[in-house]
Amino acid sequence: MLNRRTLFEIASALTTGLAALGITKKAVAKSVAPAFDVQPRGAVGRLERLQQLDLESKHDFMTGVMKFTNTSLGQASRARAVAIVKAAGLDPNQDLPLDKAMELFSSDPLIRTRDRVWHSAHNYEHALLDEAYHAEADKYLSELEAYDKSGPGKLELDPGLNIPEYTKHEIHQQPGGYVGNPFAGHIYHYATTQFYRGENDQDERHFRYAASCPLPSDGKVKRILDLGTGIGQLALAMKERFPTADVHGIDVAAPMLRYAHMRAVDLNADVTFSQRLAEDTKYPDNHFDVVISYIMFHEVTAEATKKIIAEMHRVLRPGGVFFPIDFNHKAQASAQRSYSQWIDHRWNNERWRLEYAGVDFAGEMTKVGFATQDKSEPRGTFGNIIGVKSA
Ligand SMILES: C[S@@+](CC[C@H](N)C(=O)[O-])C[C@H]1O[C@@H](n2cnc3c(N)ncnc32)[C@H](O)[C@@H]1O
Repeated sequence: MLNRRTLFEIASALTTGLAALGITKKAVAKSVAPAFDVQPRGAVGRLERLQQLDLESKHDFMTGVMKFTNTSLGQASRARAVAIVKAAGLDPNQDLPLDKAMELFSSDPLIRTRDRVWHSAHNYEHALLDEAYHAEADKYLSELEAYDKSGPGKLELDPGLNIPEYTKHEIHQQPGGYVGNPFAGHIYHYATTQFYRGENDQDERHFRYAASCPLPSDGKVKRILDLGTGIGQLALAMKERFPTADVHGIDVAAPMLRYAHMRAVDLNADVTFSQRLAEDTKYPDNHFDVVISYIMFHEVTAEATKKIIAEMHRVLRPGGVFFPIDFNHKAQASAQRSYSQWIDHRWNNERWRLEYAGVDFAGEMTKVGFATQDKSEPRGTFGNIIGVKSA
């Protein structure tokens, strides 16, 4: 992924940007591309470039479309929704029952255009990437195989793992989902750079969350778990923050973990990626000092969520910290809220989004014995509830 030629070409442009992001020179300078690394057009920092200029241009265009739907078009759509609610004599700062919201919003052309453009842009991006990697499947599968056996760090796959049904669908329109497409990691990486509108190309968001992770009161952090690690961005950011800690990233999906490990090798990060279930991790009791997780919970069932919270209490040591980050349960109420959750569920194929909204997350954490502190801000899209296991 990263090689010296690429780094020389982009070094001057990157120096300022990476320093501003807090990404150490060490992470870039140490990287030496192995001979089996496939990166026909080099990389920009932590992001490998797409195979062809044509593909990259389409990706850039679709990222721009996504940005437009979240800014100008999104603002216009929200303003329209507020006007509609007021015209109906209702309060835009209160939740509306879904059937009422559907009645008010679902035939408005501006609101529907915004939703349709967002979903089509994401869908098109996924299709582009899926086609591009499958067109050169042999090359990219051989690359994964070579990386599987390389270090630093380790990849532990479990071909006998009983994959739960609820993880098998095409979540957020991703072709094959996480477990059913050998290029799930490749597709997820680029499709999320589109989702983040180009603002997470260097894992900026993951570095921010790693930096904000609270520590156990005794300050000891020897073992860290990143739950539902996906392509490992948060696990790698935690490793940079805690270089001497033993960092583990687990996920149900082998394709995601293979890609995570490939990136870790390129970035010279000694992290262990294992295929395990969050609800039954098989780690010993009291094993981890910190468990962190980013946007996994809205993609699991309510039943699994409760089991996972209990499992995290088991694997954390007394005084250990659980730091899950996901959609904000405390977000300011609005008349569009139930409608937009439904749209995400129905059209972005976020199957468990509505169940997630119904879980009393802090309550479930308290039930299993965590002392909780809800740090979520009313205006934040994402929230964090910190759980500490009693010492
Ligand atoms: C939205 S992705 C988030 C990935 C990553 N944390 C990130 O920062 O982008 C959710 C991840 O959770 C994983 N996942 C879902 N259910 C799981 C389970 N029961 N056990 C382990 N991983 C799971 C999925 O395979 C997927 O990689």
